[in-house]
Amino acid sequence: MNKVGRRTRGYGEPMESDLITMADLTNEEILSLLDDAEELLPVAHGERYLPLLQGKLLANMFFEPSTRTRMSFETAMKRLGGDVVNLGDVKSSSAVKGETLYDTMRMVDGYCDIAALRHPRQGAAQYAADACEIPIMNGGDGAGQHPTQTLLDLFTIRQAHGRLDGLNVALVGDLRYGRTVHSLSHALARFNSSLVFISPEQLRMPSEIVSDLTAMGAKIEETSDLYGSITDVDVIYMTRIQKERFPDEDEYSKVAGIYKLTAPDLSGAKSEMIVMHPLPRVSEISPDVDSTRHARYFEQAFNGVVARMALMCRLLGVDVPRGDA
Ligand code: CP
Repeated sequence: MNKVGRRTRGYGEPMESDLITMADLTNEEILSLLDDAEELLPVAHGERYLPLLQGKLLANMFFEPSTRTRMSFETAMKRLGGDVVNLGDVKSSSAVKGETLYDTMRMVDGYCDIAALRHPRQGAAQYAADACEIPIMNGGDGAGQHPTQTLLDLFTIRQAHGRLDGLNVALVGDLRYGRTVHSLSHALARFNSSLVFISPEQLRMPSEIVSDLTAMGAKIEETSDLYGSITDVDVIYMTRIQKERFPDEDEYSKVAGIYKLTAPDLSGAKSEMIVMHPLPRVSEISPDVDSTRHARYFEQAFNGVVARMALMCRLLGVDVPRGDA
């Protein structure tokens, strides 16, 4: 479908009118979105009223469970003066009567100005984008990508380290099914960070992703040893084992609880090293890590509000004022 209204910022190439994967954003666009997100922190904290999206309506289309992504999209839109309609419980939607995703999204296209979609099927976000003229933001498609999570992850990393390039980042846990690490590894490779993929053998990063990253020139190490890497890295990004994506419960039970980071494990870590997690956590990070200087996962979740504010402004063609403007 030939989308209308490719939006420009006036200082760069036109941005894609959807965010489906990180490939839809140039590095310059990513950095510019992070700058906008920074400007929007007082708005997200409720310290400044800035109704940039007044009159705009967001459709929250979540066909899979979510707390953070759904609520932070809603918070972001409402803090910017807009409003939100939710699909609600999938079981009480017409999906249970057999309505296709295509038909559902064609309806939403008429109701709202922009939509966030989470769906269990990889590729669903692109499918929805092809059905709609309004901008579609991928809020996680199966084991595919989760690019709005990546924006908030990058924001959190830049907040802590002041840069995205030249860092040593460990991605830990379910690298096979974990969509957050698929998106994040792609972005970090583009900013020349080194990547350590730490997983059990069954949950290694898919070989096609490793090949793509290697072709991009990424420096990658693969191991199953978390504890031997802690002293060397700037970021430890823990992930949950994605139980819901395993075809077989027995296979899940072999790897459930395989990594558990505790406060004593961090005793040799660099002082500025941060521990991140997209959440929800199950048992990957012990609660005793929460009170260490390294824990960053709750701030990370908060940053979802500013990252999604910045993205919605960009996709709706609204400039975020810089400085005190
Ligand atoms: N990080 C994340 O996607 O969390 P939710 O599943 O709660 O949205």
